[in-house]
Amino acid sequence: MKLWGGRFKKDVNLLVNDFNSSINIDSRMYKEDIIGSLAHVKMLGKQNIIPSDDSLKISHGLKEILSRIENGVIKIDETAEDLHSFIEGTLTYYIGDEGKKLHTGRSRNDQVTLDTKLYLKEALKNVAHDVLSLQSVILEKSKEHTGTIMPGYTHMQKAQPITFSHHILAYAEMFKRDIGRILDCYKRLDEMPLGSGALATSTYPIDREFVAKELGFSKITLNSIDSVSDRDYAIESLSTLSMIMMHLSRFSEEVILWCTGEFNFVELDDEYSTGSSIMPQKKNPDVAELVRGKTGRVYGDLMTLLTVMKGLPLAYNKDMQEDKEALFDGLDTSSLSLKTFTGMVQTMKIKKDVMRKAAAGGFTNATDVADYLVKKGTAFRNAHEIVGEIVLHCIKVNKSIEELSLDELKSFSPIFTEDIYKAIDLLTCVEERKVIGGPSSSSVTIQIASLEKFIIVSKESLSCLK
Ligand code: ARG
Repeated sequence: MKLWGGRFKKDVNLLVNDFNSSINIDSRMYKEDIIGSLAHVKMLGKQNIIPSDDSLKISHGLKEILSRIENGVIKIDETAEDLHSFIEGTLTYYIGDEGKKLHTGRSRNDQVTLDTKLYLKEALKNVAHDVLSLQSVILEKSKEHTGTIMPGYTHMQKAQPITFSHHILAYAEMFKRDIGRILDCYKRLDEMPLGSGALATSTYPIDREFVAKELGFSKITLNSIDSVSDRDYAIESLSTLSMIMMHLSRFSEEVILWCTGEFNFVELDDEYSTGSSIMPQKKNPDVAELVRGKTGRVYGDLMTLLTVMKGLPLAYNKDMQEDKEALFDGLDTSSLSLKTFTGMVQTMKIKKDVMRKAAAGGFTNATDVADYLVKKGTAFRNAHEIVGEIVLHCIKVNKSIEELSLDELKSFSPIFTEDIYKAIDLLTCVEERKVIGGPSSSSVTIQIASLEKFIIVSKESLSCLK
């Protein structure tokens, strides 16, 4: 059933019908559509815009439709123009002519943005919970590995010793900011658009504040033209999801490297890896690779929507119907990636000994040799020069710095005494970095405590969102 047949003499071309239809995408918002309609019709009754008996009859009808869709009695008609037409048509079919009063004082233009906002509110909360689950796994692992020494890298070259805890807590910080961005998106999308009509509201004495309250919005939108034209909330959400995926993708890249024979820092659980159809020895990190790949897809969703919106004049244009496919894909992909990635990290085996051995190579304690000389009075720049020469010598004689004898060390600077060996032991290098933010167990403990608190506080904030 079309909602707009009166003005037309011919039926729409079949291809155009398909081309125009959005129901295969928007059908997933059936619950939001019905909940929105329930609030609207309650308001119409309360304001005497339609008789209260009709309002009640429509409400019952809508509730019946919701439960029948939910238990599979009503199947959504894939040939309908969109979800809104389908629900309204079904209502009238069920309850009769009173159903035709539901659309009084609203348009599909304000209805669709209401439905999307309602859907997105729930979806963003779910993604935030997915991020918090990953953070809980990071928390658990970081508690276990405050003493697991590994090399830290810059330019993909071994730089200074850190711990596995310190390393993964870096990701926890990124995900903290992501949670902040989700809450921020939520705050801005929490404005109720219904009542804006097609673009210029209506002449009925509608009560928008009442509808907002019924639906759990904290305020109403202020300009009807903006209300029906705004898709910032979808773009902002996709941008936040893109950022989450970017963080997951960087983490994935490291897991992929760590799984190589060359690094060999971790082993993925069998449940989270796959094999090769030809090479029997292979155990591949497909989950991490897919997350890295799907990141491109979510960026694509963001680009889709930015591009759809870039040249649109006010107010509603049908181009905007393209928003939901990208938005839903971004939400589904991010959520699935987060969940799968979390399981992979939770079950992955950390090879402490290999990490420790790797940290012992590559002169990761060279900075600490220079710092030793500085603490005994040498200027840092001179100390840097001396240690550079020591490293060059070590490369020539194929030794690490701690393998040089005291006499060898003294030939570079007379300042060296026996205590140098303790000072450049990897554990000392890590534990002496007590600065807030650093790798020592005391600094990492502060980071762990902050993460623990963050998870609790965030869960509380999410439970307060309507
Ligand atoms: N299905 C449309 C969308 O998703 C909403 C309908 C608006 N249609 C219209 N003719 N103004 O954006």
